[in-house]
Amino acid sequence: MSGAFGRGVAPVEVGPDTLVLGVETSCDETAAALVLGGTDVVSSVVSSQIDLHAAFGGVVPEVASRAHLESLNPVVERALADAGVGPERVDAVACTVGPGLIGALLVGVSAAKALSLAWEVPFIGVNHLEAHLYSSFLDHGDVGFPLVVLLVSGGHTMLIEMRGHGDYRLLGRTIDDAAGEAFDKVARFLDLGYPGGPAIDAAAELGDPEYVAFPRAMMNDGLDMSFSGLKTAVTNYVRRNPDVASADVAASFRAAVVDVLVAKTRRAAAEVDAAGIVLGGGVAANALLRTEMTAAGAADGRVVLLPSREMCTDNAAMIAWAALERHHQNTSDSDDFEFAPRPRWPLDGKAAAPPGRGVRA
Ligand code: KG4
Ligand code: ZN
Repeated sequence: MSGAFGRGVAPVEVGPDTLVLGVETSCDETAAALVLGGTDVVSSVVSSQIDLHAAFGGVVPEVASRAHLESLNPVVERALADAGVGPERVDAVACTVGPGLIGALLVGVSAAKALSLAWEVPFIGVNHLEAHLYSSFLDHGDVGFPLVVLLVSGGHTMLIEMRGHGDYRLLGRTIDDAAGEAFDKVARFLDLGYPGGPAIDAAAELGDPEYVAFPRAMMNDGLDMSFSGLKTAVTNYVRRNPDVASADVAASFRAAVVDVLVAKTRRAAAEVDAAGIVLGGGVAANALLRTEMTAAGAADGRVVLLPSREMCTDNAAMIAWAALERHHQNTSDSDDFEFAPRPRWPLDGKAAAPPGRGVRA
């Protein structure tokens, strides 16, 4: 492995024994994990705030920040205990610095910086989107570049061309709701619970995906996407047909979202002649999306990299792993104590935003 953690003061050479603590607090999961040199996830603890936010049907930023504050120390302690190591064994602390909810990010970044100071090890800022993307690489070897990455979560839906490590180009994105947001909103409307993605996924398995022909917006039109019209179509349909089975609506809705995501990803992959397709983000756990994307890849002769389901939703192993991988590639530009939280941090704008431009933590 090449590269070292930390600029200036006490850089740490990255090797197979390098142990990185990852910290993640960008949204509604408080997570800490220890990852060793290569791809070995030694411990991974995720404390979900789902119960706290369920009553509101979505994430309440103030509630999230407070819950992170309460959970973070115990979660870090648990990650160390599960790994059977003390703080003296940790070589670096990696933490999500953006994008995400600013109050939530501040809790994680402040704590991670405090630990890095106390333990006298480097602090590494990680882009949450990049971590989602790298989580697919945890289980797969190199397939070459360019790759087309479909990042689909509660906050983002975008297609990215990855031309190399740290070299990204935005190809398309949702012009309104993120796909995960649409899942959450439709699930709330159907009273299926929160978060909506897993609930709709489960209900859809019992329904008929052709029961309602919901619209597939912008299907033949470039690489951008739109999901807010679909959400409205679902609510209008159910209001007009109150006796319809939720399973049939869920299955028809899921089929419409997946059709769009697969068609757009396929088009993007053809346009850049991608060596492979990578999925990342919470919605990448969707059962139909995984099978349909895999089938489309097979039909087009492209490799499809799917993260394991646990790696799809927010966790800290992917944060530590992304930090290690960027150093492995010697392309990290964020191992700097001055690196501050960034509520917005587009992947393709990485180079444009110098460290310290965000809010101080
Ligand atoms: O990546 P993530 O954990 O958090 C963000 O960074 O947003 O993604 C959470 C989103 C939620 O909207 C959730 O409903 C969705 O991912 N999700 C799913 C599934 N599991 C989680 N959506 C569809 N199908 C699933 N199985
Ligand atoms: Zn996420």
